[in-house]
Amino acid sequence: MSVDTRVDLGGIALRNPVLTASGTFGYGTEFAPFLDLRRIGGFVAKSLTLEPRFGNPPPRIAEAASAMLNSISLENVGVDAFLNEKLPALPEGVVVIASAFETEIERYGEVCARLDAAPGVAGIEVNASCPHVKSGGIEFGQDPAVLAQLVRTVRKATRGPLLVKLSPNVTSIAEMARVCEGEGADGISLINAVQALDVDVERRRPVLANGLGGLSGPAIRPIALRMVWQASQAVKIPICGIGGIETAEDAVKFLLCGATAVQVGTRNYLDPAAAGQVAEGLESWAKSHDLARISDLVGALEMPRR
Ligand SMILES: Cc1cc2nc3c(=O)[nH]c(=O)nc-3n(C[C@H](O)[C@H](O)[C@H](O)COP(=O)(O)O)c2cc1C
Repeated sequence: MSVDTRVDLGGIALRNPVLTASGTFGYGTEFAPFLDLRRIGGFVAKSLTLEPRFGNPPPRIAEAASAMLNSISLENVGVDAFLNEKLPALPEGVVVIASAFETEIERYGEVCARLDAAPGVAGIEVNASCPHVKSGGIEFGQDPAVLAQLVRTVRKATRGPLLVKLSPNVTSIAEMARVCEGEGADGISLINAVQALDVDVERRRPVLANGLGGLSGPAIRPIALRMVWQASQAVKIPICGIGGIETAEDAVKFLLCGATAVQVGTRNYLDPAAAGQVAEGLESWAKSHDLARISDLVGALEMPRR
């Protein structure tokens, strides 16, 4: 029996539910020699700003237990170079989700407007985990009022599918998910990296030159599963689950917790073809469990009632 692997992520038609996560997959072209990008549902490109930007100074990547700590930050080629150079270099038939971020809300709107008008962009994921200059550096996704204003602005600037990627560094992910739904987002992606710090005891300094960084990889997976489940209980719009996914079984866990699709992130650094294996493994898993559709798994977790 064949398995129907297709899913609809807020208006983005995916051949299977496995994407790759922003910032871990470049602009897609870097990975094309290792993985046929049509084996996966699609990919989310590195977050883009209006102007090209450099990231933080090195060291900006460090290893942690079952995880990676990074402070790459804002580095990207800028929205116009992405549209004019990176996007046309991709093979036909690849689903590309562009990621947008900025330091001010109006600028987010402008990045999204440029991406929305571009042929070849299947949807936009707005990265709400960036520091908001006017709020003294607090992340956009950490304050419900600021998040609402952000989603309202980018919604006005776009007609195509709009996903909002939430920060895990909040008390109530359900509240943030409701804000996104209320302001017209078509879907939610979560989680971004967890704010973290590691220390070099000899130098008595943080390991990363920037001080704080974001923790990603298998260590954050149970946190991500918890947040996906909580968000899925709070909203009806689809959720894209992210955090430490390495295998098909990890992906199944996210679907059971309520994710319609998933993204593979840090694992790409260890194995550039990992997302293809997760996609094919998911199909095999569904076959071996007699499922007609992979989407039958979405939200099927049996959580004990309290
Ligand atoms: C080196 C690195 C760079 C990242 N850059 C971005 C980025 O530009 N935009 C974004 O939304 N998320 C970025 N992320 C976060 C990932 O997309 C993902 O949400 C997070 O790493 C958790 O998934 P994982 O544990 O599978 O890596 C980055 C993560 C890493 C490790």
